[in-house]
Amino acid sequence: SMERTFAMIKPDGVRRGLTPEILARIQRKGYRVVGLKQMVISRETAEAHYGEHKERPFFGELVDFITGGPVVAIALEGENAIAGWRGMMGATNPASAAPGTIRADFATTMGENVTHGSDSSESAARELGLFFAEGELLA
Ligand code: CMP
Repeated sequence: SMERTFAMIKPDGVRRGLTPEILARIQRKGYRVVGLKQMVISRETAEAHYGEHKERPFFGELVDFITGGPVVAIALEGENAIAGWRGMMGATNPASAAPGTIRADFATTMGENVTHGSDSSESAARELGLFFAEGELLA
């Protein structure tokens, strides 16, 4: 079905100049970019975004990393875009990511893995709401 999902180019990806390459992959795939902004995430937003990982040992490191430089927040629309974008990213651990995926092609570590994507329709709605106001998205 037609879905919207939240995608993000993390600070490592932005810093390395991978934004155009990743947007090109999204365009080639056929997804519609309905929202796009480069921004620095506040600690509050980062802690809300990663709330489910609060108890994990790497939580502090994760929040430091994601707030440590500008990210590109993207709202994507397309047929099965939630699972489709996760497929394009590949596994969280780049060592396990399938050839041709973003993580396999551009990342080497679990923490700095270039992109994020919502893992369910509930997360997509929550994360899109956290990063975009209603009027910022295309109809
Ligand atoms: P993401 O899928 O965006 O959301 C959770 C993030 O936690 C994940 O990407 C990784 O970047 C990060 N993460 C997961 N496991 C580890 C780990 N073992 N060490 C450091 N970071 C991790």
